[in-house]
Amino acid sequence: MIIDVAAVRRDTRGCETVAHLNNAGSSLPPAVVMDTIHQQLRADEVFGGYEAQALVEEGLAKSRAALGTLVGGRPSEIAFFDSSSRAFGTALLSFPFKRGDRVLTSEAEYISNVYAYTYLKKRFGVTTTYVPDDERGQVDVEALADAVDERTRLIALTHIPNYSGLINPAAKVGAVARKAGIPFLLDACQSVGQVDIDVNEIGCDLLAASGRKYLRGPRGAAFLWVRSSLLDRLSPPIADQHGAAWRTAERFDLVGDARRLEPFERPVALHLGLGAAARYAIKIGPPEIESRVVLLGAILRGMLTDIPGVTIRDRGERLGGIVTFTVDGLTSEQIRVRLRERFINTSITTQATAMRSFRARDLTEVTRVSAHYYNTEEELARVADAVRGMASKEA
Ligand SMILES: Cc1ncc(COP(=O)(O)O)c(C=O)c1O
Repeated sequence: MIIDVAAVRRDTRGCETVAHLNNAGSSLPPAVVMDTIHQQLRADEVFGGYEAQALVEEGLAKSRAALGTLVGGRPSEIAFFDSSSRAFGTALLSFPFKRGDRVLTSEAEYISNVYAYTYLKKRFGVTTTYVPDDERGQVDVEALADAVDERTRLIALTHIPNYSGLINPAAKVGAVARKAGIPFLLDACQSVGQVDIDVNEIGCDLLAASGRKYLRGPRGAAFLWVRSSLLDRLSPPIADQHGAAWRTAERFDLVGDARRLEPFERPVALHLGLGAAARYAIKIGPPEIESRVVLLGAILRGMLTDIPGVTIRDRGERLGGIVTFTVDGLTSEQIRVRLRERFINTSITTQATAMRSFRARDLTEVTRVSAHYYNTEEELARVADAVRGMASKEA
């Protein structure tokens, strides 16, 4: 079914005021997401937080169910977080690693993932190997398979990085992990809500994602999906009465589902909003969303390629809705500001969050225009026209 773009734009109040092409940063949520949150905050205000919490348990269960359905997992496999970095880091720190163990990952890793790998090395002597990209700019799956050895305890991959249209071949990496019998942790921060995800097709065992990006949820809400067969092996470094039962002075039993990884005190209103965003995405249809986002990304790249002085920086066999480029003679900040003056929201990615890939390609920064299904071709044309105008002045 084709997406009714006019209808989804009517559902999105922000579409009235701006051409929002910073969906890889934080997208415009549909009204139902923010209305759900406001309703809960109002209940906190008039009933009292704990009293209102009792009322929302059913809503939170629905959020877990929707997020589970969205990624192909079960409600009991969903843990709520505030950010993807914390979800990913909690997953890593909950693994029973020992000195000498090894993690295999890719060049596309986000700053917080690399921080967590470095922490594992410093604190526990667990090393990380970064498998190089292949000639198309995506993780080299053959090199990854060759790198697996008897010390490898985890494979981790960023599905779609923050700095490129690249969609890493996650299912191929999953096949390597399955064959080797090694758990696979997927950073799906940019991919949930952008591409159709099924954890069983991909073959991952853990998946971390933020709500505010392509999922169109609120800021401050994220989740981790954990395959139930792996749960018993995961002990979080921090737990409270929500995730653990206090049995004797120093003995605790962790709860049997993914809630063992999440805290009691959480922004529940935001997690209800996250569920509303997941239900909205399911209603629109993840395969339809993926087709349109990929199409809009390709259309914009096509429009920009023709402009003298513009270099597209996206690499990979499959590309999604994130379009990155540089313009001769202009900084990314100049481009961002000039687009903003025309009521077009875009963003910049610098080495600060994409160190490994940018250093290898001798890049310091790129302009990032990230399209979602609610964007229109007319909005993309406005970006291209504005960039053409800027580039011609520099020529
Ligand atoms: C690929 C990727 N992973 C992880 C993160 C971290 O997400 P958060 O800011 O919710 O911690 C980001 C944020 O941009 C990202 O793009």
